[in-house]
Amino acid sequence: MRQILPIDLPWIPGHEFSGIVEQIGSDVATYAPGDAVFGTTSGMGAYAEHLVVKAAAIARKPSNLSFEEAASVPVAAQTAWQGIFTHGHLEKKQTILIHAGTGAVGAYAVQLASHAGATVIATASGDDEAYVKSIGASRVIDYREAQFEKVLREKVDVVFDLVGGDTQKRSFLVLKEGGHLVSAVQPVSQEEAAMHHVSGVMMRLAPSGDVLGRIGRLLEEGTIRPDVATVYALQDAAQAWKDIAGNLPGVHGMSPEPGAARRKSHGKIVLRVA
Ligand SMILES: NC(=O)c1ccc[n+]([C@@H]2O[C@H](COP(=O)([O-])OP(=O)(O)OC[C@H]3O[C@@H](n4cnc5c(N)ncnc54)[C@H](OP(=O)(O)O)[C@@H]3O)[C@@H](O)[C@H]2O)c1
Repeated sequence: MRQILPIDLPWIPGHEFSGIVEQIGSDVATYAPGDAVFGTTSGMGAYAEHLVVKAAAIARKPSNLSFEEAASVPVAAQTAWQGIFTHGHLEKKQTILIHAGTGAVGAYAVQLASHAGATVIATASGDDEAYVKSIGASRVIDYREAQFEKVLREKVDVVFDLVGGDTQKRSFLVLKEGGHLVSAVQPVSQEEAAMHHVSGVMMRLAPSGDVLGRIGRLLEEGTIRPDVATVYALQDAAQAWKDIAGNLPGVHGMSPEPGAARRKSHGKIVLRVA
């Protein structure tokens, strides 16, 4: 990790949060002390009771969400928004294939694309078919059982890749000419993109209070919903990481107990700051 995320210890993790404004800078006009907000930090530091953030990276907390629910939204929902709309140029009546429709980002992508009037096809485990359909997918392809490029009957306008590797490579085969392959996980081969007459881009989240505000309105009106799997107290953060690692196969140095069941629930893990 040191090569991609160099840090100086001591270091505070956490990239997203929800809370109440305590003080504002002299040039901030949009927020006042007492406002409930949510957003992203410019570095890390969200595992904390206090943090300092740019006003441009936050938005008002949707009033129908708890702080825990709101804190679970910013990174995944904005990544989904920018992946499918900013980079994928998804439009009404188009078809999008979302790889990993059950993940944190994928579940927002499914909801936002479906709300935008697109036809949504998602890859997911067969066990999760009902869940992914319940949030807006019209078709779910079980990635453990079938190769999506073999079972898709028609080509799609956009692929949103949250898996990478071979899944990304095979995605070129299902894109229409002029389509967009957007990956949030690894660079896209420009040679292959040119060969298939599509665009290919690896996106990186560019947090925006404006986008988050629009997402906030969709949450407030109930068009999309957050998904919180578990809430831990701030002082149990280390245990939360151990529990996450315990459910992932073969995480270095923290392999699951033999026979441990894999986590089947969906949603984010949130720390509650008293
Ligand atoms: N570029 C950026 O700015 C940015 C921002 C946020 C996230 N990301 C990246 O985006 C990726 C997704 O993030 P996340 O938070 O949504 O992850 P997540 O919540 O851990 O979800 C990962 C999902 O991938 C599914 N999956 C695994 N292999 C698959 C396959 N071959 N085909 C289809 N689905 C598969 C898993 O399903 P099962 O339950 O079946 O295992 C799981 O639901 C991560 O790599 C993350 O680092 C990038």
